[in-house]
Amino acid sequence: MIAFRSPARFDKSAVILICEKEALKGNRSQLSGLRLPGEVMSVLKSGRFTADNGELFPVLLKGKIILLVGAGKSSELSMTALRTAVRKALLSPFLNKIKDIEIIPYSQAEETIRAVIEAAVIGGYVWRKYITKDQSPVSVDTKNIFIATLPKRIYQETLLVCQGVNFSRNLVNDNADTVNSAFIEKTVRGIIKGKRNLSISVLNRKELKAKGLNLHLAVNQGSRNEPKLIFIKYNGAGSKEGYTAMIGKGITFDTGGLNLKPTGSIETMRTDMSGAAAVIGVLKNTIALNLKKNILFVCALAENAIGSGAYKPGDVLTGYSGTTVEIANTDAEGRLVLADALAYTVKNYKPKCIIDIATLTGACVVALGHDYSGLMSNDDSMAEKFLALSRETDDRVWRLPIYPELKDAIKSQIADIKNTGLPKGAAGTCSAAEFLRQFVGETKWLHLDIAGTAFADNQGRLYFGYGATGAGVRLLTEYLRKN
Ligand code: BES
Ligand code: MN
Ligand code: ZN
Repeated sequence: MIAFRSPARFDKSAVILICEKEALKGNRSQLSGLRLPGEVMSVLKSGRFTADNGELFPVLLKGKIILLVGAGKSSELSMTALRTAVRKALLSPFLNKIKDIEIIPYSQAEETIRAVIEAAVIGGYVWRKYITKDQSPVSVDTKNIFIATLPKRIYQETLLVCQGVNFSRNLVNDNADTVNSAFIEKTVRGIIKGKRNLSISVLNRKELKAKGLNLHLAVNQGSRNEPKLIFIKYNGAGSKEGYTAMIGKGITFDTGGLNLKPTGSIETMRTDMSGAAAVIGVLKNTIALNLKKNILFVCALAENAIGSGAYKPGDVLTGYSGTTVEIANTDAEGRLVLADALAYTVKNYKPKCIIDIATLTGACVVALGHDYSGLMSNDDSMAEKFLALSRETDDRVWRLPIYPELKDAIKSQIADIKNTGLPKGAAGTCSAAEFLRQFVGETKWLHLDIAGTAFADNQGRLYFGYGATGAGVRLLTEYLRKN
């Protein structure tokens, strides 16, 4: 639970007091206006706590703990560093067994408070579903957090968006055989249940076959799960307003197919539905924020499995658009499923613009690493908007090019195009985007490659712990709000 109350009260078992370095000198600071307990004042004066970024200093006070958290110099402080510091405090062993925590920020600036909320909800998220033995850190969602600030609508909204991010992360983190296509359909139906301005239509194997979405079907051929293409229409604006379409890659497990992935690459492939999970998080946010927009949410779901039924390298398939595709590699399955979904959406729903989000290429991890998603688009103004929103939300994207010569990279000798790029190893993220581009026609389109950002291995990164990050949810929600 998160609550907003002002002024600061120092009345909970634990208090997180965030200090900027400047606040320790002179009287101009916010801190001196706080009427701090004497014990805290003397620590601040003693020079033992210097408020370097990430510095933690516990002060015990009548059975309570006041945890001083350094934010560093405010002139040098990024909101990312602030989130990281607050997260570190919340998950620190000092607070493990404490349920009620007051957070007192050094500033009442809106961006500071929003960063604190994100630090608590996104930063405090820990995937613990299958942990049966006590283990720290303890997920912050089991605690009561009181943030010392005036309650504002914008803070309630930030909180809702963060909850959408975590909803998406839960879908990604769980087992592939739990979160299969049927489970995802059930989840979506649960979200929209009883809502008047929403409708859903699902294409299953039978309908996909009848309509000729053969690329999508081929990818799922080796699986016993049903392939599904789910459309959710959200009507938040008048009927004259066009639709923004949002399509997520939902490969519930990517073995690579007969071009089987090696050990070291296959272990986290349950996360290959992160695009679809992001779309579902954004759907949840759209409803929670009651956005006055018309939006089409699309989840393209399949499992890239192996077995005697699996599709094969060398196959030539005709997709929904009529374009023939040589399967050069069964591990380049995401673009196949998306190609049919894009072509079908453009033809049958005629959206004013279309955004897809996908864990599409390992090459994107090589190009941009784990902190920036790849952005590619056939529309400069859309791309510019996303880049600006990326800086605002800290849901980071970086643009990569699509250019005419990439057509040659996906030429085939036996079909119109093939599903991998040439030469091998060169700009694989861009040739994958060029492949997708050929299925959207003249529609304004933007593609997000979240292969590097959707999942944090090892100790996590930025203010995300181990596991799914919800990459794209904040960015896409903000885009829908403003466009
Ligand atoms: N799902 C993978 C991409 C991926 C890689 C996501 C690492 C997350 C982390 C995608 O389906 C894939 O396998 N792409 C291939 C394409 C290649 C065969 C042209 C790749 O990147 O190796
Ligand atoms: Mn693959
Ligand atoms: Zn994949």
